Amino acid sequence: MKKLSDYTGSNRDVWDASAAAFEGKEEWQEMVEALKSGGFSDFDQTMTQTLQGLGIKGRRAVQIGCNNGRELLSLPSLGAVPALGIDISEKFLDQARRLAQIAGSDCRFLRADIYELPGDVPADFDLGLITIGVLNWMPDIGRFFDVVAGLLGPDGILVIYETHPVMEMFDPEAEDPFTPSRSYFDKTPESWSETITYDGSPGEPGPTSYWFTHGLGEIVTACVQAGLIVEQLREHSHSNREVEYDIYEGREAQIPMCFTLVARKPG
Ligand SMILES: C[S@@+](CC[C@H](N)C(=O)[O-])C[C@H]1O[C@@H](n2cnc3c(N)ncnc32)[C@H](O)[C@@H]1O
Repeated sequence: MKKLSDYTGSNRDVWDASAAAFEGKEEWQEMVEALKSGGFSDFDQTMTQTLQGLGIKGRRAVQIGCNNGRELLSLPSLGAVPALGIDISEKFLDQARRLAQIAGSDCRFLRADIYELPGDVPADFDLGLITIGVLNWMPDIGRFFDVVAGLLGPDGILVIYETHPVMEMFDPEAEDPFTPSRSYFDKTPESWSETITYDGSPGEPGPTSYWFTHGLGEIVTACVQAGLIVEQLREHSHSNREVEYDIYEGREAQIPMCFTLVARKPG
């Protein structure tokens, strides 16, 4: 049986190995140009409306699993202040620091495994963000939410915009992609040994990554047990994940494809 840090260390290696390819993409140059001209936002309509509905103006934000910082750097367009991005991949944080400089942001980026955060990380943020494709990298969802709740100050809001756990039952590349291929309750970590791309293109051979499934009930329970008050849980019919999953959108018998969850730390 592996230790938690065996999983997270191997996941760090695969994210580091994947970073360079993202800079070669057209989207990177578009993002650089948009950051230079100001008003940049990478949020889709669902995330924009969720954040606007909460009144986040002036809130200082921390993002857990911030990757290249593009979402943190979208917050000024909604009046919030990107303050700290935490990620395990130094290579993606290099990109985040360069993007922040282009945007004229003084957001700080910290390389850390969320399970081994240094003791001097502030615990007073008034907005926490977790977005698309973070929860499944976490071997222990209860400990994860304990750490996340510890980053928020009194009345701090946590906003999660994630892929729906039901999607883990389907494999878009299977012969029959519409028949569930995995039990919703299967907790065996999935593993791959190739670099990560978001655009459907094949990765290069690389370190092994480990992917963990957590049911919606486990996610909400972990949030509540960490002392947060859940204020909203909305399931959505659109996809917010890799392009291969677009085949599950717009169907008559629609499955939930993503969710937004808002929770608050008691004041
Ligand atoms: C799918 S990406 C998030 C992408 C982000 N939503 C975006 O659109 O830019 C997941 C991120 O979680 C980070 N991550 C994975 N395991 C982590 C851990 N144990 N501690 C901190 N960050 C971690 C990865 O390095 C990666 O950048």
